[in-house]
Amino acid sequence: MPVSVIFDANLAEHHTFGVSVRSRALVVVDSVASLQRTYQTADWKALPKLIVGGGSNLLFTEDFDGLVILNRILGRQVSETDAAFYLHLGAGENWHDVVSWSLDQEMPGLENLALIPGTVGAAPVQNIGAYGVELSDLCEYVDYWDCEAEEVVRLTAEQCRFGYRESVFKGDLKGRAVVVAVGLKLPKAWRPNTGYGPLAELGEDANARSIFDAVCRIRASKLPDPNQQGNAGSFFKNPIISDALFTQIQREHPEIPSYPAGPEHKKVPAGWLIDRAGLKGHRIGDAAVHTEQALVLVNQDKATPDQITSLARHVVDTVSQQYGIELEPEVRILNAKGGAGW
Ligand code: EPU
Repeated sequence: MPVSVIFDANLAEHHTFGVSVRSRALVVVDSVASLQRTYQTADWKALPKLIVGGGSNLLFTEDFDGLVILNRILGRQVSETDAAFYLHLGAGENWHDVVSWSLDQEMPGLENLALIPGTVGAAPVQNIGAYGVELSDLCEYVDYWDCEAEEVVRLTAEQCRFGYRESVFKGDLKGRAVVVAVGLKLPKAWRPNTGYGPLAELGEDANARSIFDAVCRIRASKLPDPNQQGNAGSFFKNPIISDALFTQIQREHPEIPSYPAGPEHKKVPAGWLIDRAGLKGHRIGDAAVHTEQALVLVNQDKATPDQITSLARHVVDTVSQQYGIELEPEVRILNAKGGAGW
C-alpha cells in the first residue's frame, strides 16, 4: 500500500509545546515496510526528515521545511523464562500505556517510569528516566531502521551507549537511525526502587502498584498537563559540575541538593538553581517558567517560538551569572531544516 501523505501539515496535534507550526509534508508509518517505502520515495529523498513519536520533547522554532514521519509502528510481545519477562515493543506504542498494561499483566519493573509522555521509540533516544530508574536499567536491545544501509539493525543495550539523557542515537547514529522496536527485560525477582526522595515514604513494603500510583500523583502535582499549558517536560538537563564548584556554591547555599555523578563530580537539579535565581513564574510574552517546577517552560496561551527561546536564554544567562553553571537544553530545539535551532 502506498504511504498516505498530507502536504502543508499543521503540526498542532503532533507536538506538546502548542506553538503554531506546519511542515512541508507529513506521513504516518505503521510498519518497517512503510518506513522503507517512505525513505525510498524519490520525491522525498532530498527532504530533511523528522521522526516524531509523541512530540513531547520538541520545540519547533519555525515551520519545518521537510517531511515529518509519524512513527506508529505498534506491537507488544511477551516471552518469559524462570528469571524474567521479556517485552518486545513497537516504537509507536504509547509509553505510559505500556507501563500501565505491564502492571495489569503482573509484570512489575516499569512503575517508576509511569506518566512519562511520548512513545516507546523515543525512550532509548533520550534514555528516559525518573524517580531513580532509567530505561537503560531495563533495556535489552533496540532495533532501528538504518536509513543508509536500508535494513533493520539490532543493538545491544551496551552498544546503545546510554548516558544521562544520552544514547548513540543522539550521537554517531543521529539522523541515520529510526527506532522501530525496543526489547526490555523485567526480572521476576522484583524489588521496589523507592530510594528517590518523595518515594522514600512508601518504604520497603511498597508494591509496584503503590509506586505507580505515587509516581503518577507526584508527576501530576508538579508537571503541567500539556493539554492545558503547552510544554515539553524538563526544558534543561540537570548539570553535572565539579566537586570544587559544588563546594563553592554549597558554602553560600548549604541546602543545595545533589546526586552522585562519577568521580569528583555531582549532578545538581537545574530546577533548584532556576528557582533560587528567582525565576519561577518569570514571563516573556506568553512563555513562562512554570510556577510549580522551575525546570519546565510553559506556553501559557499563544507563545511564539521566539518568546520561548528568549525566555530559555534569559534562564541560561541568569543561572550562569549567579552560579557559574551553563545549563543545556534537554528539549530538542529545531530549525526549519531539522538542525539545532538554538
Ligand atoms: N526543585 C526546586 N524548585 C523547583 C524544582 C525542583 O527546589 O522549581 C528541587 C526539588 O525540591 C528537588 C530537586 O530540585 O530537591 C529535584 O527536583 P525534582 O525531583 O522535581 O526533579 P528534577 O531534577 O527537576 C528530574 C528529571 C525529570 C524527572 C524527575 C524525577 C531531568 C532533566 N529531569 O527532574 O524528568 O521526572 O527528575 O525523577 O533529569 C524530563 O526529563 O522531562 C523529566 C520531567
